[in-house]
Amino acid sequence: MKETVLITGASSGIGLELAKCFAADGANLILVARSTDALEKLAAELRNNFSIRAEVITADLTLTEAPAHIFATVKGRGLTVDVLVNNAGFGLHGPFAELPLKRQLEIVTVNISALVELTGLFLPEMISQNRGGILNVGSVAGFVPGPNMAVYFASKAFVLSFSEALDVELRGTNVTITNLCPGPTETNFSQVARGHRQRPVPVEKMSASEVARIGYQDYRRGKHISVPGAMNKFNCIVPHFLPRAGVRRIVGWLNRLAPAK
Ligand SMILES: NC(=O)c1ccc[n+]([C@@H]2O[C@H](COP(=O)([O-])OP(=O)(O)OC[C@H]3O[C@@H](n4cnc5c(N)ncnc54)[C@H](OP(=O)(O)O)[C@@H]3O)[C@@H](O)[C@H]2O)c1
Repeated sequence: MKETVLITGASSGIGLELAKCFAADGANLILVARSTDALEKLAAELRNNFSIRAEVITADLTLTEAPAHIFATVKGRGLTVDVLVNNAGFGLHGPFAELPLKRQLEIVTVNISALVELTGLFLPEMISQNRGGILNVGSVAGFVPGPNMAVYFASKAFVLSFSEALDVELRGTNVTITNLCPGPTETNFSQVARGHRQRPVPVEKMSASEVARIGYQDYRRGKHISVPGAMNKFNCIVPHFLPRAGVRRIVGWLNRLAPAK
């Protein structure tokens, strides 16, 4: 039987590319985000190219009722989710005290609360069927504290810790959990995070398709933590050998923004 994969944040970037990876393998898809038109366009393209079922659920994950609405819609359509991809997420650049508090709390809602609730809603069925898994999109940001992007980095540290803990709890089952931790990637992420401001130091970015391909392969292999790219792997390891006070200063320096023009 074909597996059914639910992907949040499938309307652009890494989520869209992950949808293509699962579709190419013959999985049926449930695509979730706020941008209905982009989701419908992708669903039509994937149905045509791969002869799969692809459905759309429009949901705004800043709304606390969204995960329950997604779960109820899935059940209402008579579907069972075999694989949950918690990919939707965003960040904001700037000092914590200067950024809008409401928007920063929305980072917590989307990146943490929605991810936990969707996991809590869909995981029990995977365990009872003893198959399937979860692919959580975290970040290399999860490995270090992130001055000038404090809430985002902390949210990804949560995703890393939560995913690692569930990995141990799921031992003895055929259900797997993978935390994909990309570094800088060519997507809409920076536009959302930075508005019109720029980083003073340019960073080398991987393509979203490459990140998704590696994350997808690592999920299929049952890898617990997937860090795409040699430089990103290096950046995750180095902080372990440096004093923590130094690490947070370096990250704060890297995360500083050029003044608005
Ligand atoms: N790009 C990077 O450099 C990078 C690095 C490390 C980790 N990541 C992580 O990768 C994941 C995907 O981001 P991306 O880089 O692909 O950026 P992106 O192109 O901006 O994609 C973000 C996705 O999340 C969805 N989303 C955002 N807010 C949402 C909300 N309130 N409700 C429902 N869906 C929402 C967006 O869809 P709608 O706007 O249609 O709702 C979009 O599909 C995120 O978790 C991000 O933290 C990105």
